[in-house]
Amino acid sequence: MKSCRAIPVILLLFAFSSYAQEQQQNRNINSTTRDNIITRDTSSSDKSIKCNGYSEFCSKKYNELAYPGTHNSFAVGDSIASNQNIPVRDQLESGIRFLMFDLHDPNPKNISKVLNDANVNGVAEGIVNSAFQAITDAKNLIKGRSGSSITLCHTSCYLLNAGLFQDTLNIIAAFMKENENEVITVSVENFSNFEIGAVAKDFSKSKVSRYIFNPKNYAKFPDEWPSLKEMVSDDNRLVIFISSNANETEVPWILGQNKFIAETSFENLDSKSFDCKGTFPSSKLTLLNHFKSTEKQIGDFKAYIPKKDSLEQINSEQSILDQANLCAQNNPNFRTNFVAVDYYEKGELFKAITKINNVTFDNSKFRVKSGVSRESKSGVSSKRLLIIQDILSSKWHIASLLIAIASAIA
Ligand SMILES: *[C@@H]1O[C@H](CO)[C@@H](O)[C@H](O)[C@H]1NC(C)=O
Ligand SMILES: *[C@@H]1O[C@H](CO)[C@@H](O)[C@H](O)[C@H]1NC(C)=O
Ligand SMILES: *[C@@H]1O[C@H](CO)[C@@H](O)[C@H](O)[C@H]1NC(C)=O
Ligand SMILES: *[C@@H]1O[C@H](CO)[C@@H](O)[C@H](O)[C@H]1NC(C)=O
Ligand SMILES: *[C@@H]1O[C@H](CO)[C@@H](O)[C@H](O)[C@H]1NC(C)=O
Repeated sequence: MKSCRAIPVILLLFAFSSYAQEQQQNRNINSTTRDNIITRDTSSSDKSIKCNGYSEFCSKKYNELAYPGTHNSFAVGDSIASNQNIPVRDQLESGIRFLMFDLHDPNPKNISKVLNDANVNGVAEGIVNSAFQAITDAKNLIKGRSGSSITLCHTSCYLLNAGLFQDTLNIIAAFMKENENEVITVSVENFSNFEIGAVAKDFSKSKVSRYIFNPKNYAKFPDEWPSLKEMVSDDNRLVIFISSNANETEVPWILGQNKFIAETSFENLDSKSFDCKGTFPSSKLTLLNHFKSTEKQIGDFKAYIPKKDSLEQINSEQSILDQANLCAQNNPNFRTNFVAVDYYEKGELFKAITKINNVTFDNSKFRVKSGVSRESKSGVSSKRLLIIQDILSSKWHIASLLIAIASAIA
């Protein structure tokens, strides 16, 4: 008899547990239970909740904080077009939260124009053909791996090619999966005239798609940014900006950089000190481009190469705070949001950022891994480039072709 009575109890328990499961699922999409989600994996009291490493940051709105960033985050390795030593995954591990990417199409649109120009410049046909072969090989390699060919390159894909954008997006996604309370911002530059739809597709097809910040989820946006706590609990914690031609109707979650961010000059020659020209209205986020370059003439092409011999000074706390203060002098209610540097492991970027954010700098939070790039791909070494420069004719794309050959035969 007893066992018969047990059946409805079990059914009831079953029904209850599936009800509980459903509730659990709802929780993930129900914003009234935000606080429960944020404590999901921390198991202890509210005090231990941290957003981007600090409990103080959870209640701050996204635009009230400063974020440490890397200029050309992907441009890693031994190349004159490099800006970093440490790959993106390790940048994130050590605390970088603002990343900058240049999007290129590695396949020249008009090969016959390239060949024609090469002949005009008297480059031997055999060399041109080898270069053509190298281009074709690269094209096939990329085609074989993914439907998209949007590639991270600096200056030219023959000079520094860091691989498919999607691969780097997946690296970011892996970090975000393991670090649920981190808010990250990426800024992309549309160098090869990609349609907004193509750029959006790369994001939505990659594993970062579930973390993308969509302003449509926030009724007060753009008058008010959500707090870090909201962004974390909603998993809307990857903010994306594009340098040109955003289209809010078509893709509301790729924000126009010009509309939302005011920035300092990115052409800072080593001879001059950092300035803060332009206007920085308090309605916009701000970006300090805190890196310096040396101008270098290669044929008729002017290259800007990071100034490497005084990075400790350029990336010092004082130098960063000086530029922030200069901006604050000229602009009422100025707030520093993003600071982008070259070779961030040199100097005191994190110290400066914690100072701006009024929190205590804790060295153990910001561990910079030493050693160079396991992600580094086909960078061309400076030495090799110098040799190429010697035999260079005057046109930059010819240099690119020669570099392609050098890369192919190396
Ligand atoms: C969230 O869940 C509660 C309780 O289940 C419900 O009353 C409320 O309407 C839900 N809110 C949203 C935005 O779905
Ligand atoms: C490609 O380049 C060749 C040689 O300069 C030119 O004649 C041709 O019009 C170009 N084609 C396109 C589609 O631009
Ligand atoms: C990139 O630039 C081209 C040309 O200016 C434009 O047509 C395209 O929409 C842009 N794409 C994005 C994603 O900004
Ligand atoms: C933005 O996208 C919409 C929808 O695709 C289109 O109608 C509109 O012309 C686009 N705006 C611009 C400035 O390209
Ligand atoms: C840090 O303190 C300054 C001065 O009181 C204040 O203006 C600024 O908003 C604070 N920043 C943060 C992130 O709390």
